[in-house]
Amino acid sequence: QIVHLADYRPTDFVLERVDLTFELDPTNTKVDARLIFHRREGVDLSAPLVLDGDELTLSGLLLDQNEVPAAQYDVTPESLTIRDLPAESPFEITVTTYINPEANSQLMGLYRTNGIYCTQCEAEGFRRISYFPDRPDVLAPYTITIIGDKAANPVMLSNGNFLGGAGYDEGRAFAAWFDPHPKPSYLFALVAGDLGVVEDTFVTMSEREVTLKIYVEHGKEARAAYAMDALKRSMKWDEERFGREYDLDIFMIVAVSDFNMGAMENKGLNVFNDKYVLADPEIATDQDYANIEAIIAHEYFHNWTGNRITCRDWFQLCLKEGLTVYRDHEFSADQRSRAVKRIAEVRHLKSEQFPEDAGPLAHPVRPTKYREINNFYTTTVYEKGSEVTRMIATLLGRDDFKAGMDLYFERHDGQAVTVEDFVKSFEDASGRDLTQFSLWYHQAGTPLVTVSSDYDQASGTFKLSLEQMIPATPGQTAKEPMHIPLSFALILDNGSPAVPTKVAGGEVTGDVLHLTERRQSFTFTGVSSRPVLSLNRSFSAPINLHLDQTPADLAHIARHDTDLFARWQALTDLALPNLMHAARDARDGKEITCDPSFVAALLEAAGDETLEPAFRAQALTLPSEADIARELGGNNDPDAIHAGRDAILSEIAKAGTKTFLRLFEDMKVDGAFTPDAASAGKRSLRNTALSYLTYAEGTPARAAAAFASADNMTDLAQALAVLAHRFPDAPETTNALATFLARFDGNALVVDKWFSTQATIPGAGALARVRALMENPRFIATNPNRVRSLIGTFAFGNPTGFNRADGEGYRFLAEQILAIDPRNPQLAARILTSMRSWRSLEPQRADHARAALTTIEQTPTLSTDVRDIVERMLKG
Ligand code: ARG
Ligand code: ZN
Repeated sequence: QIVHLADYRPTDFVLERVDLTFELDPTNTKVDARLIFHRREGVDLSAPLVLDGDELTLSGLLLDQNEVPAAQYDVTPESLTIRDLPAESPFEITVTTYINPEANSQLMGLYRTNGIYCTQCEAEGFRRISYFPDRPDVLAPYTITIIGDKAANPVMLSNGNFLGGAGYDEGRAFAAWFDPHPKPSYLFALVAGDLGVVEDTFVTMSEREVTLKIYVEHGKEARAAYAMDALKRSMKWDEERFGREYDLDIFMIVAVSDFNMGAMENKGLNVFNDKYVLADPEIATDQDYANIEAIIAHEYFHNWTGNRITCRDWFQLCLKEGLTVYRDHEFSADQRSRAVKRIAEVRHLKSEQFPEDAGPLAHPVRPTKYREINNFYTTTVYEKGSEVTRMIATLLGRDDFKAGMDLYFERHDGQAVTVEDFVKSFEDASGRDLTQFSLWYHQAGTPLVTVSSDYDQASGTFKLSLEQMIPATPGQTAKEPMHIPLSFALILDNGSPAVPTKVAGGEVTGDVLHLTERRQSFTFTGVSSRPVLSLNRSFSAPINLHLDQTPADLAHIARHDTDLFARWQALTDLALPNLMHAARDARDGKEITCDPSFVAALLEAAGDETLEPAFRAQALTLPSEADIARELGGNNDPDAIHAGRDAILSEIAKAGTKTFLRLFEDMKVDGAFTPDAASAGKRSLRNTALSYLTYAEGTPARAAAAFASADNMTDLAQALAVLAHRFPDAPETTNALATFLARFDGNALVVDKWFSTQATIPGAGALARVRALMENPRFIATNPNRVRSLIGTFAFGNPTGFNRADGEGYRFLAEQILAIDPRNPQLAARILTSMRSWRSLEPQRADHARAALTTIEQTPTLSTDVRDIVERMLKG
């Protein structure tokens, strides 16, 4: 039941063409799949054709239009095996199945959402539609015919270009589509139903006009305008930055309200969770706009990195996902502030991927085995995969990286390839050996780099000694030293950079130092005075860094580094020891104190008008409770961490009241709402100031006033969150929650914000609140967005509420996982990963967590998805 990379071999039969006919019916859809195959050269005559299925019943099977005798095939719900097939000439297999979209609660394959037929086939959903060679290295052009009730399905869509459509018989219509680009089945899509549409056009670099359509529920068309704008900007950017042009006459996006993930890059027909399409100032926050822009870009960019060039097998998932995340990061960086975007990326990487890499679910960016592929759509594959691509760009420099990408596109267009093929393109384009670098794909665990430095005034030399250690991870105990590119600067007393005359001990290119040995020293000559070392600037490598620096040195970096990311990192490094100390003091019942020089550095950055507001807001946002827990490493008490952090926030608020009052006034954005990065930055700084002011003032008055006067969702949701989290029992909060709900009732995406704001109210009362909210009629247990916004947000985003000392939070989660699993295993497995760091809890909580996990594990009827996660979690 475990799939191994080493077992990969190509199929015996080559699929030449696919011709699908769907006769839509909510509970009994007929699917005819006509598949043309030929036997691959050299394949034994006795080799049978084996097709994948999942919960299927076969109702017809033809070989070259003749019924196949029962003796010639074997069938189960999971597979169809046909023997005695023609030796040389192509042959045609026609498979007929009937499926029930209405009953498909897994949301994989063909299902219904709000009366709309919709598909999700990645990774292995197509086999829930028809028996098929359902693997990414089987590529073919598809012709699709959709027949459906005319009134119920005015819209019938599939991949590729529209061939035509008309009346079919009484009450029914058909639509036909042809996708000329060979693709694997996971990129197949079908959508049908009654939807509204927004249309636009894009003229490509070779002057082809492409029709753009975004389909949404009737009445929500205006809310698709921002997504359309983001799409056009993405298409332009991919032409300019990567030379990639769109390749069909039409590009479509459909927004649906029941979707297991963010979105899906089906060829020419992206399907989206409507959360990542619909926006207007009334309902969407600045963060929502930024997410929409990034995800629209991500799915569009897949057209080349994923669709034109796809994965040979699912072990290569990072080939398309890591690379495409890197591309969408670069896009957002170009559209917004590069430094602020980088800070957000690193915050996300550290809060999601670092814990994964440090816990029982750790796995390499390119794994070598899996039990359930759906469980490998992880932050390691996506985000660390993106960081690995970024490091290739850093190692090679802009020109060689571009040459490598060009070579990759040219060499592999139309193919299903591997990570090795990808890396080889860069080696061939640059002449650089990336063998050692490739360990980033194969070794799990976040490397720890420990650094010490020594300056000798007499000789003007600065010596850096580095040591790298890669922690053991499940299944990987011994690790080899990796190639770690570290961007650095030596900053002199006056803030200017030192320019050494010579470097010895290893390779340095530009501002990048290449750490390749387990232990390595670099000696810089010609450094006239003691410099302050700024290392891993822009987060050039996804590592943990131990670098003994005085608060004065960190403050110096925070003030002078030309790399804004490094300035933010320095402020974070100043904050962390204070927060860790505070957590320990809170646990021991001691008075909590805070280093005034840290507070001063923070407030200096906050008040520095030469810095963009979005950056200053990031500077003021302390490491999260999860960040502090990670730094502490083990024996964690979430209550103490929370109390300590709260006390530090109060200290900063008291010391900075004047600054915050000024920011709260100055950062007010006048005029009509626009979601641009500059206005968003001002709102974010103003709302950060608001949050500190409530700490200083100790009353809900200011937040209640901000709530009452807010004229956009960003300000409204922020004010609501401040009220709920700081003053959960105040009448102002009760009022605001009621007002918010009354105003947005019926808009599920906004009601989700109402759920998640309450799910993250800290403290032991959280669980009762979440349970009560689950009884609310607006909570729909079958809708993934509802489940994630209430249960998911509670488990992932409420450290004190979820990690109650009595273990009730874990028992609640176990109960929910067991309830969700039978209908939607992917959703259940994903939410269960919220317990991935359970081993770093203090012993009493860890015991409760283990017991809850064991309850899940001992349930005999678990899905493969949940079983895989829970067993790794208990074993690793
Ligand atoms: N390929 C999609 C994306 O990243 C996500 C598909 C997730 N599939 C899954 N089975 N979890 O854009
Ligand atoms: Zn993707």
